[in-house]
Amino acid sequence: MEKILDLIADEVKKAFVSCGYDEKYAGVTLSNRPDLCEYQCNGALAAAKEYKKAPFVIADEVAQKLSQNSMFAMAESVKPGFLNLKIQKSFLADYIEQMCQDTGRYGCERTKQPKTVIVDYGGPNVAKPLHVGHLRPAIIGESIKRIGKFMGHNMIGDVHLGDWGLQMGLIITELKERKPDLVYFDETFEGEYPKEAPFTIAELEEIYPAASSRSKGDESYKEAAMQATFELQQGRKGYQALLSHILNVSVSDLKRNYENLNVSFELWKGESDAQPYIPEMVQKMKDDGYAYVSDGALVVDVKEETDTKEVPPCIILKSDGASLYNTTDLATIVWRMQDYQPDEMIYVTDKRQELYFMQVFRCARKTGLVKPVTQLKHIGFGTMNGKDGKPFKTRDGGVMRLEYLVDEINKEMLRKINENQKTREGVVISEEEAKETSKTVALAAIKYGDLSNQAGKDYIFDIDRFTSFEGNTGPYILYTIVRIKSILNKYKTVGRNEDGAVIEAPHSDLEKELMLTLSRFNAVMENAYEETAPHKICAYIYELANAFNSFYHATKILTEEKEQVQKSYIRMLGLTKAILETCIDVLGFQAPERM
Ligand code: ARG
Repeated sequence: MEKILDLIADEVKKAFVSCGYDEKYAGVTLSNRPDLCEYQCNGALAAAKEYKKAPFVIADEVAQKLSQNSMFAMAESVKPGFLNLKIQKSFLADYIEQMCQDTGRYGCERTKQPKTVIVDYGGPNVAKPLHVGHLRPAIIGESIKRIGKFMGHNMIGDVHLGDWGLQMGLIITELKERKPDLVYFDETFEGEYPKEAPFTIAELEEIYPAASSRSKGDESYKEAAMQATFELQQGRKGYQALLSHILNVSVSDLKRNYENLNVSFELWKGESDAQPYIPEMVQKMKDDGYAYVSDGALVVDVKEETDTKEVPPCIILKSDGASLYNTTDLATIVWRMQDYQPDEMIYVTDKRQELYFMQVFRCARKTGLVKPVTQLKHIGFGTMNGKDGKPFKTRDGGVMRLEYLVDEINKEMLRKINENQKTREGVVISEEEAKETSKTVALAAIKYGDLSNQAGKDYIFDIDRFTSFEGNTGPYILYTIVRIKSILNKYKTVGRNEDGAVIEAPHSDLEKELMLTLSRFNAVMENAYEETAPHKICAYIYELANAFNSFYHATKILTEEKEQVQKSYIRMLGLTKAILETCIDVLGFQAPERM
């Protein structure tokens, strides 16, 4: 469906033209004075210069014209030259009715030019548990991916595991110390390696930090780890077999953890998958004259004339020939282009990596790893802070495991739900249901708390606020959905149905307000996709939930006597619920049946 703002703008354009003014002045926006009008056009102010007329005269002429148009209930010129507009109730009702009939899309069309987009938003490291630092990329990336999918694009999430480098050598070295008799360390072994891993995830999670801290004080241990890393990378069979055990054990644990966050990846590729592409890539960069040796290292210049600050060259290989973090990212681009031909790649990481990604993108472009039209985008997010305004930590100052954080919120949510139950008569939900529900609501609390902020900004992870049923929170949105579900259920229980329901012109200002908010759905979703901005969807559903609740408090829905009026209400409630549910689905969470 065409966006309502465009339909309005078309009429305003016609009016400008028929009054003898250029249509470029006919831009319409939502009103920033909702007390005065619903939409506004400020074009007369700009047109005044070109036509050497007072802006008010122009606004007035256009207003006169629009007053004869059945789309508008009001078209008013206001000094010095604003055009204030209100749309006709019946026009709005028709639009909402069409949205209702457009099941599943509610007026939001799929793109006509589907793109293939790879979203890189995991970055967990093998053998290390997920910690709070992994929360933001998971939440934001998953939502970006879902928004793109809803818009009809082919979105591919890649976890981009940190499975390469010294950490692997450290684990192997520590394992060798503990269990030297394992067949993986026997270089003469010719047989098949066991299927079962020689460690559990719990052991693995303990081995890695132990090895890492030991290597810091023990030079020869560190050397051994570096040697093991080298041998692994050279293809030593026993170590390769260990690597796949480490990967398997770790990945199944990571999958479980991501699943708990309602986050999933289409691709479980890692840094190690990029390694085979490095030699050829580097050779080509040299052959094409892009890569040259500077201070022993192989580098590619990526600075541009318009830079206002220093952009250092991209280091491709260190002086000892070793590859780096960015070599892996570049080689990852190589296989992604080869296997998926993406039109776009989006990276969701901490914003402190902004300069880094600028270098990588420029290098990829310059050396021809991507096509000139391939878009490369970095979405840098800010820090998740504790209430003290400092990066979120555990009480004893450590990095918090993601699981523990989620547990804590689950508990708090359960407490609130139980408390909430006490204040109500009627349905009392079982302990079992309360537990399930608290998980659903807790996830909404966490995700909405994060996504409602513009990604680039830091935010304060405030458990009390996030889990509140009131205010701009996830639980408030869910509460609204649950409220609608309950009304719709009651309506059905008394034996009524929606047969022959059509959206009637709004019966009150609050109902019109709700319809106006509903009508913006397609524009909001499209814009959130274009700007990779899930926070815009949060802002929208908060407004929608508020508009609904205001309408609900002022309107007798279930006791409405006129059948067609009631049916129209119920139909609009169904649409409100569907849109809220569609929006939270792209944000990556769901609503319970009751709470
Ligand atoms: N594994 C990396 C880390 O823990 C993050 C990877 C981010 N993504 C990327 N394509 N570089 O720091």
